[in-house]
Amino acid sequence: MTATVPDALRDASRGTSREAYITGTGMYVPDKVLTNADLERIVDTTDEWITTRTGIKERHIAANGVGSSDMALPASRDALAAAGLTPEDVELIIVSTFTPDSPCPASSCLLQEKLGAKNAASFDLNAACSGFIYGLTTARQFVVSGMYDRVLVVGVDKLSSVTNWKDRNTCVLFGDGAGAAVVTCEKKGLKLRGGYLGADGSMATLLHVPGGGSVAPATHETVDQDLHYIIMKGREVFKAAVLSMEKAVDRLLKQEGIDKREIRWLIPHQANMRIIKVLSDYLELPMEKVHLNIQDYGNTSAATTAIGLHLVNAAGQFARGEKIVLVAFGGGFTWGACLIEC
Ligand code: ACO
Repeated sequence: MTATVPDALRDASRGTSREAYITGTGMYVPDKVLTNADLERIVDTTDEWITTRTGIKERHIAANGVGSSDMALPASRDALAAAGLTPEDVELIIVSTFTPDSPCPASSCLLQEKLGAKNAASFDLNAACSGFIYGLTTARQFVVSGMYDRVLVVGVDKLSSVTNWKDRNTCVLFGDGAGAAVVTCEKKGLKLRGGYLGADGSMATLLHVPGGGSVAPATHETVDQDLHYIIMKGREVFKAAVLSMEKAVDRLLKQEGIDKREIRWLIPHQANMRIIKVLSDYLELPMEKVHLNIQDYGNTSAATTAIGLHLVNAAGQFARGEKIVLVAFGGGFTWGACLIEC
């Protein structure tokens, strides 16, 4: 078995091996709820189609002028309060998002200012829906290496800002929201044991926002052609999502030397209930071990697993010794999984 990072790295100044713990979580969704019945009035769809094909009943939509950093703020405050830390204690902020407030500055810098986390370095991370798992895994590396003791990780997306409300294939799927976690070297809370990450850029155009970047900056033509919205080939993405999440969990379990029967909680990306069911069948996990929030929030991209982690944690449902697997898949394509131990 490959040596894990904590086995290999030691903090020379303290002479101890360092590990990473999640000591606080938080979440935020906007007040405004968009139900399937509301969508029936916007595009040619039905509550029955959306419910049976996706599992989604409603989603939350942020107001115009609200940015990802604004949604990240309350989630971060709650996570810090739960961890017993002040904003000034934070040494690094990672905001995982593909809908930043604007191309520059990074939403993490805006969040740093809004939080008053004046001692923190900050950067954004774009791994689409896998962003929170990429963020947690990155934060863990900073903590076990000894570079930082306290890292704030946020998964946030305002998908409504890149949703084509005329496209029934996509607009029924997405919602807005944020989830946050504090990752520290303090030995309490949930142990962040390890992560596995993957990517394949060869399928990039199956799920993308073609306009608004350096290739096709905003012009009247790009706006007229709807290039600033998510374009997705749903069926192809469905298959790739299943295969890559199965692979991510398999690789993670092998790397960490645990059996799938030891998983107490699976917190998967919430893109489609049918994808989650196929994954749970593959892992032979009964659905009561699988966290679901898709019915209430839809696909909130980088926020889905962060919100899931917070909801189970805040409900006091984690018991000592239990193993939790977070797994996600998203645009890029990207995928990843992490193992947490209570
Ligand atoms: N209401 C009614 N009918 C619809 C709707 C709708 N909202 N959307 C599509 N349909 C129709 C289609 O037009 C099609 O009709 P046709 O047979 O007459 O052509 C029919 O329903 C079936 O369409 P499919 O695309 O085959 O439907 P499918 O069962 O695959 O479900 C879906 C579509 C929900 C998009 C599914 O493919 C999916 O979930 N894909 C994966 C999405 C995903 O995982 N995204 C990941 C990340 S997202 C991110 O990174 C931001």
